[in-house]
Amino acid sequence: MLDQHELAAVQTLDDFEVLAKSHLTYQAYEFVAGAAGDECTAAENRAAFRRTRLQPRVLVDVSRTDTSMTLFGRRHTHPILLAPTGYHKLFHAEGEAATVRGAKLGEATLIAAAFATTSIEDMAAQARQPLWFQLYLHRDRGVTRGVVERTIAAGCEAICVTVDVPSNGPRDRELRAGFVLPPGVERVNLAGLEGGVAASSDRPFGRSIYSALRSASATWADLEWLRSWVKVPLLVKGILHPDDAERAVACGCDGVIVSNHGGRTIDTVPATLDVLPRITDRLAGRTTLLLDGGVRRGTDVFKAIALGAAAVCIGRPYLYGLAVGGEFGIARVLEILRSELEMTMCLVGCPELNKARPSCLA
Ligand code: FNR
Repeated sequence: MLDQHELAAVQTLDDFEVLAKSHLTYQAYEFVAGAAGDECTAAENRAAFRRTRLQPRVLVDVSRTDTSMTLFGRRHTHPILLAPTGYHKLFHAEGEAATVRGAKLGEATLIAAAFATTSIEDMAAQARQPLWFQLYLHRDRGVTRGVVERTIAAGCEAICVTVDVPSNGPRDRELRAGFVLPPGVERVNLAGLEGGVAASSDRPFGRSIYSALRSASATWADLEWLRSWVKVPLLVKGILHPDDAERAVACGCDGVIVSNHGGRTIDTVPATLDVLPRITDRLAGRTTLLLDGGVRRGTDVFKAIALGAAAVCIGRPYLYGLAVGGEFGIARVLEILRSELEMTMCLVGCPELNKARPSCLA
């Protein structure tokens, strides 16, 4: 692991990926870096940011910048959240406990994943920043309810229900690497569930597309049911179509996370930045929009916000930070992104983030 002095010399989020490769096993690296199919969508998430051009304006007083924003009544000093990602003990011996400490150092909200290797109570005990929980709907509503009640009791301030994984996607790199959780890295059993991929006995090689831990039959009715009793803010993660965003709002959800799961579920779907403007236009301030997928630069954060996102989430970069430098690695990742965002705001002539508009883009 790198010490704080060495971390200070790391300059970009992409540098963290290069470093992480030498800190992780081949299997763990393929698990985090890989995406579905030919990885077109994962590449496209980044390409969309690259081809979107900024439009600077000059001679604006940018001697102070304000990156703060408010989500569901809580003020955040910057608009970067840590997306839900599974199995942090693959990346660091202390797993999610190190992540929540990194979130504290970087003043970021962590969306704790359902597939974690640390209990939600242990995460909450160390958290000094808001903790949200990412939920997968289970086919048994009683199980889903038990999980949500437990996580809210632990102190989670919002629930993000991930809806874009009714089946597994073909994550070929991780399959080729023979990825399995190594000994000593275990998924915390939130609701007494036995997990894993159910082998299909009617296929010659037993390949199944379903997971016992996620419902493949969930519909909008399940979201309405969830909304009817979840009292904290409820967000839907994995929306790519304006009609679905509209439907989520009609169900009473408080927010929508425009996401393609970092390209890890289905390949060849559009980049999140490319679908964001249509969703922003349709929802026109009626909900809180977040975006993830391919955010690696402060310019990327700014572009997403200019196109209507209130905030963004990052996934892989903070896992690379965790692998390379533990909590301080995560803090460094967040510091790089925040400072790049502030520089962008100065150089574009938009010192207040809540004034970022499509007119800031060329
Ligand atoms: C994820 N992601 C994810 N999402 C989710 O809702 N539940 C989960 O358990 C996971 N697990 C997970 C593991 C790993 C290793 C990665 C890389 C990602 C998706 C994640 O929340 C987010 O949508 C993407 O990671 C965003 O894209 P970038 O920032 O990784 O490009």
